Amino acid sequence: MKQQTIDQAKAVMIKNDRGSYTVPTQGLYPFQWNWDSALSALGFAHFDEARAWTELETLFAHQWTDGMVPHIIFHEMDDGYFPGPEVWATNQTVPTSGITQPPVAGFAALRIFERAKDRKLATDKAHALLPRIHAWHKWFFANRDPQRTGLVAIIHPWESGRDNSVDWDKAFERVPTEGVSPFKRRDTNHANPDHRPTDEQYKRYIWLVQRFRTLGWDNTKLHDASPFQMVDPGFNAILIRACVDLAKLADELGEEEIAAQSRSMASKGIAALESLWSEEHCQYLCFDRAVGALVDSPSIGGILTAFAPIPDSRAQSLVQRIDTISENCSYLVPSHPPQEPQFEPLRYWRGPVWLIVNYMIADGLLIAGETDMAARIKQDCLKLINKSGFAEYYGPMNGEPCGGGSFTWTAAMVIEILEAS
Ligand code: DGY
Repeated sequence: MKQQTIDQAKAVMIKNDRGSYTVPTQGLYPFQWNWDSALSALGFAHFDEARAWTELETLFAHQWTDGMVPHIIFHEMDDGYFPGPEVWATNQTVPTSGITQPPVAGFAALRIFERAKDRKLATDKAHALLPRIHAWHKWFFANRDPQRTGLVAIIHPWESGRDNSVDWDKAFERVPTEGVSPFKRRDTNHANPDHRPTDEQYKRYIWLVQRFRTLGWDNTKLHDASPFQMVDPGFNAILIRACVDLAKLADELGEEEIAAQSRSMASKGIAALESLWSEEHCQYLCFDRAVGALVDSPSIGGILTAFAPIPDSRAQSLVQRIDTISENCSYLVPSHPPQEPQFEPLRYWRGPVWLIVNYMIADGLLIAGETDMAARIKQDCLKLINKSGFAEYYGPMNGEPCGGGSFTWTAAMVIEILEAS
């Protein structure tokens, strides 16, 4: 049974493999996506180490000169997706989007390096990637934390990966829709529109893209110019964990300066994360930097913080929080709690379960010694796969498969969970 599931997952990954990068799924997402790619590399590493490194290399081959790693790389034209390269107009040799995504690559690189059987290949590849990943981490703190608070802001919901989270609703009201050029969505040709963001949200996504485009994608200007500046605890936890992991990788490779700088960014971030803790919700919350207030929306972003080395007492509280949420759903961990009025069980990031987020939460809890909850979350991932296949995401009440099918990172997480246990 275990081997059969691994084989099915491998087949999904191979189907979406384009040689030097993978698409998240055919049709809906026909290009290379940043965090999809880095997490998918973890799956490849179990059956083709060289291919895993190539996935990361391809991603970083398209890093901008300022250090940013874009969220989409448009390797081949495909008008089945909107917004395509002509909307972004970022003026890169191979077209890319102009925003970024959760920086999981540092974590993935260390994990692939530590488990590598081919030590020479791993050392060579990690050596080449190390300064590039580090440049990206420094880019975040230089461009997305202008006041040097220790935490970075996202300037577009797509950067979080949690596109239509309830967390953004209030702040999104400040993003206008006037002046948005007419467009036709393509995502709803490939996936059930009831599982996707609304048209109203799409207009605001595009308004932000147009705003940044008029500023020439100059990252020294975009943060302050954006009406959407959100300090997402989950995003920051990923960045902090990536810095911690990059420091370990740098130690292994004898790169002392990168190790010291990475540790310094991580410890400042961990200390600053405390300011996002909510006793009332027993989890972390987003901070809306444009208005200077915490966002009263206890979504999964505040639980994903378990991925970072937060204090043990906080990890214990997050376990309690997940346990409370579990009283109202069948599968952990819903992206928004079913108890909340905005919960929508099947709509993208407003309720559904995502295996990649589950994987990161479980990984952090395991390190914190919270083994029971980590095992419970992983079990739910496997139950979802057995019930509903390799979907993009799943309904937390009935396990219904949602969004795209044959999804690369879902398959990669299953391989990772099964092979590593
Ligand atoms: C999409 O197109 O749905 C993506 O989430 C944007 O990256």
